[in-house]
Amino acid sequence: MNSGRRAQLVAATAALLMSGLAAYAATEMLSGTLAGTVASPESFAPIEDTQARSAAIFTELGKVLTHPRCVNCHPAGDHPHQGDSGRLHQPPVSRGADGHGLETMRCGTCHQSANFNPARVPGHPQWRLAPREMAWEGKTIAEICAQLKDPARNGGRTPEEIAHHIADDSLVGWAWKPGYGREPAPGTQKEAGALVEAWVRTGAACPN
Ligand code: HEC
Ligand code: HEC
Repeated sequence: MNSGRRAQLVAATAALLMSGLAAYAATEMLSGTLAGTVASPESFAPIEDTQARSAAIFTELGKVLTHPRCVNCHPAGDHPHQGDSGRLHQPPVSRGADGHGLETMRCGTCHQSANFNPARVPGHPQWRLAPREMAWEGKTIAEICAQLKDPARNGGRTPEEIAHHIADDSLVGWAWKPGYGREPAPGTQKEAGALVEAWVRTGAACPN
């Protein structure tokens, strides 16, 4: 190949790469802005029927509940998931008897009391897997809604206590400050709290 032809090829490859990168950046930014916010409870005021309004508010809250920051810790089965794609946790770990892992592989061995950004390891003093009956992975918003209202599957909580848990629990709050390399859950914990409180106030109706 002569040098002119090679230079052309290099330039063409570079151009292709750049356009690919630009497209990638654009989709990332777009999904960021769409996924990154939640609507306020007030924005549902035009829905006159209270039950329909309540269900619509829960559907909005669903953007948070089905986000990988929550679902990775509320998986179906015994293994946590990782990252924005929700891949299976590496190394393989299991919930164990108390959600803190097997005797030989405790969550706290790697997950310290705070995020450790240099190694991308998330942290919190209570780091553990949500109990099996609180699994959200693979469920529809309607199914998660019914489950959240069921004391047998929500840790014996009233709807008011669920609202309080989402608005104030610090392990839930980790999802909005997940550390380096992870997308935070949409909106803020305060906004999620306002949505779930409005949902309860309007009768805690579930979407179909
Ligand atoms: C041997 C070390 C180790 C052990 C033990 C461990 N983890 Fe992890 N975990 C990691 C590392 C490292 C990451 C970050 C991986 C990444 O995102 O690059 C991680 C990430 C996670 C995430 C992903 C957070 C997110 O949304 O991206 C969850 C959830 C998680 N671990 C739960 C657990 C639970 C629950 C246990 C105990 C049952 C546990 N881990 C035990 C090392 C460990
Ligand atoms: C590090 C793991 C972890 C993460 C991340 C996590 N949870 Fe949980 N979650 C748990 C554990 C453990 C419990 C059980 C605690 C209890 O019942 O007191 C739980 C219980 C709950 C409950 C009450 C029981 C139920 O399912 O009705 C709600 C509501 C909840 N989590 C919401 C969330 C939301 C919303 C997010 C994301 C914004 C989230 N969680 C992220 C571990 C996690």
